Amino acid sequence: MKKHASNIVFDVENIRNDFPILSRNINGKPLIYFDNAATSQTPQQVIDVIVDYYSKYNSNIHRGVHTLSQEATDKYEGARQIIQKHFNALYSHEIIFTSGTTHSINLVANGFASLLTKDDIVLVSALEHHSNIVPIQMLCEKTKATLKVIPMTQDGALDMDVYDTLLLLNPKLVFVNHISNALGTINPIKEMIQKAHKVGAAILIDGAQACPHIKPDVQELDVDFYVTSGHKMCGPTGVGMLYAKENWLNKLPPFLGGGEMISEVTFNKTTYAELPHKFEAGTPNICGGIAFGAAIEYMNSIGFGAIASYEHELLEYATKKLKAIDGMKIYGPRDNKTSVISFNIEGIHSYDLGTIIDKLGIAIRTGQHCAQPIMDYFGISGTARASFSFYNTKQEIDVFVEGIKKAAMMLR
Ligand code: ALA
Repeated sequence: MKKHASNIVFDVENIRNDFPILSRNINGKPLIYFDNAATSQTPQQVIDVIVDYYSKYNSNIHRGVHTLSQEATDKYEGARQIIQKHFNALYSHEIIFTSGTTHSINLVANGFASLLTKDDIVLVSALEHHSNIVPIQMLCEKTKATLKVIPMTQDGALDMDVYDTLLLLNPKLVFVNHISNALGTINPIKEMIQKAHKVGAAILIDGAQACPHIKPDVQELDVDFYVTSGHKMCGPTGVGMLYAKENWLNKLPPFLGGGEMISEVTFNKTTYAELPHKFEAGTPNICGGIAFGAAIEYMNSIGFGAIASYEHELLEYATKKLKAIDGMKIYGPRDNKTSVISFNIEGIHSYDLGTIIDKLGIAIRTGQHCAQPIMDYFGISGTARASFSFYNTKQEIDVFVEGIKKAAMMLR
């Protein structure tokens, strides 16, 4: 496995060499990839692991006595342990492999269908991605439980006073993201978890946008459920994880039925396998799981402290430059956010901005960012969103800002 050279100085040029895609040209210009909140890029170290799997030991796991199956099983379970260690879960069986954050959230929401009644209340935050809103709505449709929303404020934060008031209703379950994908807001999850537990509510934290930037400690947080996706943190798509406390995994029913999640099957009755297999029906994304582990190791080799401080520098630099553009409006908090800038320029549609700067080789996301309620709150149809990763540079931001100025001139 190739290692990048230095952990002492944040050597971005060296880090960029790990990412083959960053030397691509798009529309005749060097690629500037600022759509990291949608998906991150993949370093050669992780690509090598994927190639290695398919060239050397591709086989099904937990099923075969043959060498290939044992090798694949060892690597897959090894990846589970890497993930356990990274998130500081107490047991490796508290880590459930899923296809991604959305699958993880649906697994939990589906499990609560057997635990809630029409008299129960569940809370969701106004800052959520649709993948948190829709499963909890479906849960409420099934159980007839009542859904209440923790509102947001003009500066893109959650209204914690209203949260306190809603907790007086004794909700059973709270869904909130660690960081908003649309605005970059870092939510006060530790406080929210403590407060939820005081009234006996379970709480799920959607960490999809947090895990590329920070290293959560699930025991320190004392969180019930924490979910994320591999592709947001330099891993492949189609794989993610659910962390849940052991007692919750014992309490919740399985989500999907099928092979490998059973202990015994007869036509009278099926009994389920031990954790974590009870929640992992069918052949999983074996290569994806192994590569997810490798991606976590790659990010740790750079260091989350270094990543966070470098990305903060990029955020400050870009914010200052963008603010100087005529008609610029940036949404979300000024501080306490990750390297995401959601913005509009007066009189210009975000889609048009995104289309023009793509011609300059620059990738950003435009639209609602799967968070329509946030856009409705601001009374807008969408935003342009630039999201930076540790492999981006200030030089790229300079080109991006010039590109935005050029596009604004053309569109006005
Ligand atoms: N949730 C991803 C985003 O924010 C897709 O772009």
